[in-house]
Amino acid sequence: MAIVTTKDMFAKAYNGGYAIGAFNVNNMEIIQGITEAAIEQRAPLILQVSKGARSYAKHVYLMKLIEAAIEDAEQSAGFDLPIAVHLDHGDSFELCKSCIDGGFSSVMIDKSGLPFEENIAITKQVVEYAHDHGVVVEAELGTLAGVEDEVKVSAEDSSYTRPEDVQEFVERTGCDSLAIAIGTSHGAYKFTAAQCTRNAEGLLVPPPLRFDNLKEVEKRLPGFPIGLHGSSSVPQEFVKIINENGGRMPDAVGIPEEQLREAARMAVCKINLDSDLRLAMTASIRKHFAEHPDHFDPRQYLKPGREAIKAMVTHKLIDVLGCNGKA
Ligand code: G3H
Ligand code: 13P
Ligand code: ZN
Repeated sequence: MAIVTTKDMFAKAYNGGYAIGAFNVNNMEIIQGITEAAIEQRAPLILQVSKGARSYAKHVYLMKLIEAAIEDAEQSAGFDLPIAVHLDHGDSFELCKSCIDGGFSSVMIDKSGLPFEENIAITKQVVEYAHDHGVVVEAELGTLAGVEDEVKVSAEDSSYTRPEDVQEFVERTGCDSLAIAIGTSHGAYKFTAAQCTRNAEGLLVPPPLRFDNLKEVEKRLPGFPIGLHGSSSVPQEFVKIINENGGRMPDAVGIPEEQLREAARMAVCKINLDSDLRLAMTASIRKHFAEHPDHFDPRQYLKPGREAIKAMVTHKLIDVLGCNGKA
């Protein structure tokens, strides 16, 4: 089993009407929880590393842990699980180069905050280096709201991807997939209360995704893989557990899973999930301490944390992405 690019998995996902999960990894328990779920479900997988994760855990630790997960899968499951290792939100050529040189099979260059021509120029530079080294590139057009690597992008600053730009962008940069902004947002507080309506139980309901924009993009880039960032659904049962056990997360809100299922059936081949995994792990650890205030051995609370990650990923693979059984 080796680390693969996303080329083949995206082609199959596009034609099969499902999406690949791109899950952020920061430590051993998260890597184990995700890969165990993917092995059990025989689901192709993208493990992604942000700039923040890389400075928290160091590139070499994350790379060796991912290699260990691949080796363990090979031994325990006895089949080749396709795993791509991807840089999430690379913000410079140098960072992308360092990840390419360090063994990643895929990088994202995110210069969506720059003017169109500047985004094209830097993306093209990354694509040339990446393709020379057998690595694929995700680029971004349009701006999501929320937090990207500790930089806060306010909802007001976010702007949907303009479908009329995508063809020229892809042709001129040569990128292999494109992240677009159609109303998703990073983090656990995706929208302010003012941007939402409230349902009968008083819970916030966010504005619906712009499927019209997605359809337009699909029309202009037939067969081309589209990525959605900021796709966590912030399940309220986890927010409740956190709030009932010493946490404070008022008005945390995400994207309804039904809308993500719909996107996965369309041109969306990659769905990024990080916040929902964080919520699952944190809820399990807060609950654990509430029930066992005497515990102080990290293994006692990290083990349920790892299990919570595995359960969340299993749910996403089967019920949202539809990529179970596709490896
Ligand atoms: O899109 C951002 C990801 O959720 C990564 O978050 O920068 O805290 O690692 P991070
Ligand atoms: P969420 O914060 O919605 O999980 O999005 C994660 C993401 O887009 C990582 O790049
Ligand atoms: Zn993202």
